[in-house]
Amino acid sequence: MIAPSPIPLDRFKDSVQDRNNARFFPAEAYTSEEFYRFELEAVWFREWISVGRMEEIPEKGDYFTVNIGNEPVIVVNTKDGLKAMSAVCQHRGMLLTDQPKGNAKGFVCPYHRWTYDLTGKLVGAPQMDGVGTYDKDCLGLPRLAVEVWQDIIFINFDTEAAPLSERLAPLDPIVKDWGLTELRGEFLTDPNYRQTHDYDWNWKVYAEGQAECYHCDKLHSDIPGIQNIDCNSMHINVQDEERGVFAFEMRNKVIDATVNHVGTSIWPPIPTLSEEQRWEQHSIVISPNIFMQLMPDCVILLSWWPTGPGTMRIKRHRLYPQATMQRDDWVEQHKLESEHIRYFVGQDDYAFASVQEGLQSRYAPHGPLSNREFVINGMSKWLVERFERADAEARERASIKEPAE
Ligand code: FES
Ligand SMILES: [Fe+2]
Repeated sequence: MIAPSPIPLDRFKDSVQDRNNARFFPAEAYTSEEFYRFELEAVWFREWISVGRMEEIPEKGDYFTVNIGNEPVIVVNTKDGLKAMSAVCQHRGMLLTDQPKGNAKGFVCPYHRWTYDLTGKLVGAPQMDGVGTYDKDCLGLPRLAVEVWQDIIFINFDTEAAPLSERLAPLDPIVKDWGLTELRGEFLTDPNYRQTHDYDWNWKVYAEGQAECYHCDKLHSDIPGIQNIDCNSMHINVQDEERGVFAFEMRNKVIDATVNHVGTSIWPPIPTLSEEQRWEQHSIVISPNIFMQLMPDCVILLSWWPTGPGTMRIKRHRLYPQATMQRDDWVEQHKLESEHIRYFVGQDDYAFASVQEGLQSRYAPHGPLSNREFVINGMSKWLVERFERADAEARERASIKEPAE
């Protein structure tokens, strides 16, 4: 049940001004427990959320789990297609699995052995015959909507939500030549690779930090790949505030600039790119939880979701052509590349953790957006529209409930 926004929404009006006059959200929006609860209902339990890639669950029965806010979910590949459902057993509430991923024929609750098939249908429960409240058909796992775009899996708690593909259509021409469905995650070649990481900052600190290249040539000034990008050449290709999709582009100073220890590709370029595209860097934001960087030799895909008001989980993918991952020098060279990327990501982590601290100060800013942070302005507009919708709905519901005079 949605309650009205605990932060009056007129305090967000500075964030939805035109891009030259816009500010970040009020600091409380990044720290308040109550606002976090509101945001879960207004955004995370209504919108399409990116949770992973198809190559994570290629075989029938393959599944992974994800916990959005306080909602544990299983995403599973079945013979009837991809399914997403609650991981909460409908008998007593035990979680059906504590594994991040696996392969299953069905899900058996460890507590009293209620058994669900891969689609979430309850197929058996011991000692329930003759129980009046036991209706097998009504006790399946609650379903979520699921959709796949470019091999990226999205789920939606709102099973009536409008389809996602139409919303993402403006991005199709930009991603097309990177052939995202042909690329594969680096995790496939390293069984110890950790895809998810937990952090102590609000998800918007992260989302906003990814969506701007104001900091790139400053915080990351020692990174060769960043030195090879002309951050001043940044221009926007898609700023669709209604759909919450954004794409901006920068020009490389040298061909095949990429974020690694060398600064230019150590791998052959993605074969479907033109020479011109090898001079381009494309950044893509899909609200509320995707950032993608399209580079000449690979693609970075970041997805995230809140785990609390000041905590979040990130799932990272670096996607390469399969031929690159089959090269003899892959393991050795990729190790060097990965070490450098950890160093690069560590610079952002240091800033995000510190910002989260600063936002709790009595002197926390309600700062202006620079002219390299305009995507944040678009993301804010998309979010505030959702806050307003949920707030109005909550108020209407409350007014209906008020007893008549
Ligand atoms: S809680 Fe799952 S079978 Fe009882
Ligand atoms: Fe960064």
